[in-house]
Amino acid sequence: MNNASLKNDEDIVISLRNVTKTFGSFIAVNNISLDIKKGEIIGFLGPNGAGKSTTMKMIARLLIPDDGEIWIKGNGSLQKLTHKSKDYLLDNVGFLIENPAFYKHMTPRQVLSYFAELKGYPKKLINSRVEEVVEIIGMSDWIDKKLGTFSKGMRQKIGIVSAIVHDPEVVILDEPQTGLDPKARKEVRAFIKGLKAKGKTVFISSHLLYEISELADRIGIIYNGQLIAFDTLENLEKMSKRSVLQIEILQPYDTEKTLVVLNDIIGKINGLSNLGKEAVTYNTDLKLFEVTFDGSPEKQQVIFDALAHSGLKVLGVSVPRTNLLEDLYLKYISQTDLGFEHENGEIEKTRVAVSVAN
Ligand SMILES: Nc1ncnc2c1ncn2[C@@H]1O[C@H](COP(=O)(O)OP(=O)(O)OP(=O)(O)O)[C@@H](O)[C@H]1O
Ligand SMILES: [Mg+2]
Repeated sequence: MNNASLKNDEDIVISLRNVTKTFGSFIAVNNISLDIKKGEIIGFLGPNGAGKSTTMKMIARLLIPDDGEIWIKGNGSLQKLTHKSKDYLLDNVGFLIENPAFYKHMTPRQVLSYFAELKGYPKKLINSRVEEVVEIIGMSDWIDKKLGTFSKGMRQKIGIVSAIVHDPEVVILDEPQTGLDPKARKEVRAFIKGLKAKGKTVFISSHLLYEISELADRIGIIYNGQLIAFDTLENLEKMSKRSVLQIEILQPYDTEKTLVVLNDIIGKINGLSNLGKEAVTYNTDLKLFEVTFDGSPEKQQVIFDALAHSGLKVLGVSVPRTNLLEDLYLKYISQTDLGFEHENGEIEKTRVAVSVAN
């Protein structure tokens, strides 16, 4: 990566440059470089133990990299995060790092006021700001109640707003939606979209692929400490050369006959014939036909055209984004999985450099 060109990119608010973190001989984060631009939502995916929290903790300076540098925007330019610069640079960043632990005898008003003051929010404005953020998450009635009486999800929501109470430009959220019910997850999703609408930058880790597919402008996948993919969902899809179209047909229909027609369409389309019999399947749960192809917009258009002239009573064609992200995620992970497992089933905790084969 070219440092000089990075410094000229005014949009970048956080830049990780060849960052490595080891615990003893174990490499938890292995030479990660990534740039986060102003106003983006970056989704950070990876299996348990991949290095997501460790990466975020290094940005928060709760952990110090063994190698590499972290640069954060402060006063209009990127500056290197060091022991000396950390207080100043991190005033502009908000963090939710893993399960927030709160003092049970304190109230949201007390905890949030404390965080706001710690991060240098103007003292006179703190109380109204705390009331405002608690209102945003619909917990005004709880603002003066003791946290010890809150459910896990309620505490999690307070944890999320503690990351933004001082109104930072960049918000880093480590699994903010874990433990939340579907309604609360939806509220948090709307809340994060609201941050983006205000021009804030969000770096969010999650195991909830649907949430990430709905929110993220770009997605980073970390595996065994290495960043194995970092791009938009569309580009990840293109690179994986795999895309799915779901086709809904007016009922009743003969499934076998419909599969024959669809296979015929796919077989005739130049370049798609080598996809084999997996190209068209019937999803019995959803009662939808699924066509797998290489993801190019040109071929998608040809498929639409052929469907329109097929005689099938097509009700709709859609791209299942959640499944897509799940498929891509698993595909990227398995491509990189080059045998860390011993014959006896033990997983070796040594990480070696591998690259994604496209
Ligand atoms: N303080 C520590 N001492 C030793 N090993 C650690 C420490 N913190 C993290 N690790 C190890 O580093 C690896 C990465 O952990 P990390 O918490 O970053 O994973 P993660 O991607 O956040 O996983 P999860 O999805 O489970 O939260 C794990 O194997 C973990 O055991
Ligand atoms: Mg974690």
